[in-house]
This record gives sequence, C-alpha cells and structure tokens, in this order.
Amino acid sequence: MANDDLEILLDAETIARRVRELAAQISADYRGRPLRLVGILKGAWVFLADLVRELPLEVTVDFISIESYGDNSTTTGAVKITKDLDRSIEGLDVLVVEDILDTGHTFEYLRGVLEAHKPGSLKVVTLLDKPSRRVRPVQVDYVGFTIPDVFVVGYGLDYAQQYRNLPDVRVLRKTL
Ligand code: IMP
Ligand code: MG
Repeated sequence: MANDDLEILLDAETIARRVRELAAQISADYRGRPLRLVGILKGAWVFLADLVRELPLEVTVDFISIESYGDNSTTTGAVKITKDLDRSIEGLDVLVVEDILDTGHTFEYLRGVLEAHKPGSLKVVTLLDKPSRRVRPVQVDYVGFTIPDVFVVGYGLDYAQQYRNLPDVRVLRKTL
C-alpha cells in the first residue's frame, strides 16, 4: 500500500463545486415534490452526505447495499443485495445516488430491483461515469464527472475497502 501511486484526478474543491451544481439542477427539477434519496452503499455515502446538505427540498434518505466486486477491481457481473431498503418506495419520487457507473452491471440489476417496488418515478445521479467501460446500457439522469478508463479511489470509493476517507478522487495505479 505504501508503494501505491495516487495521482489526484478531482480535487476536493472541484468536487464540492460540481456537487453544488448538481444539487441546484436536482432542486429545480423536483421543486415542491418530496424526494426519497436512495444511496448505494458503501461507495456513495460521502457523495450523498454532501449532496443532501445542498438540497433545499423535503428529502428523506434510505440506503441499499449491494456487492458487485468482492475485494478487487475486476468486474464479474455478479451482484447481490447485502442490505435492502428499510422503507417502501411505492409511489415515491426516487433519486438513486451512485458513486460510479462502470460496466453498468450493478445498476442494471439495481434498477430491476427498485422498479419492482413500483416507485412513482426513478432517476439516477452518479458522481462519476466511465462510459468507455460500459457493457450494459444504462440511462443516467445526472452525471458529476465523466472520467477515462482508470481505477479511482477516495471520496467514498475504495480499493479493497481502503482509501474511502480521501477527500479527493485519485487514480490508483498498483505498483506492487
Ligand atoms: P459496474 O457494475 O461495473 O458498473 O460497477 C459499479 C461498481 O463497481 C461501483 O458502484 C463501484 O463500487 C465499483 N467500481 C467501478 N469502478 C470503480 C473504480 O474506478 N474505483 C472504485 N470502485 C469502482
Ligand atoms: Mg466498491
């Protein structure tokens, strides 16, 4: 770990500015309507915490926890729910808060799970998008940053559960 090369891709100030822009857009789109945020654990919790404090709306928050990768950075396409929603989303305006869209496997699975609960509407905000890696088609409503095909950590994102506490988004190049 000490040898890991961690180059800053998005610094904390750049992220904060973009989070405020996204929040302004979301607030305008949902004005006057109660909104249920559904955060995807664990990666999205830092982003959600910053985003929710910029939303001058009637907001409630729930989390769903899914595992897609095990403890390394290679995708398998296998996804399972390890913590379900606590409250029904039936008939509600739901905004899913994601950390990063990569192959799209995780979100495709998640959308199926959430649609089955019959929300009134379902939109997605993702902090990061790596469209070059997409295998499954995904419709995203709000994107923070489109990034190249690099493995990133920090601001909630992990490698083997490490680095979630970094205040910025950095590129992890394993030097081994
Ligand atoms: P997908 O199913 O390939 O779209 O993967 C989405 C999930 O993989 C995300 O929610 C992350 O947990 C993880 N992931 C994908 N790319 C990265 C990355 O660059 N850094 C950290 N986690 C990632
Ligand atoms: Mg992860």
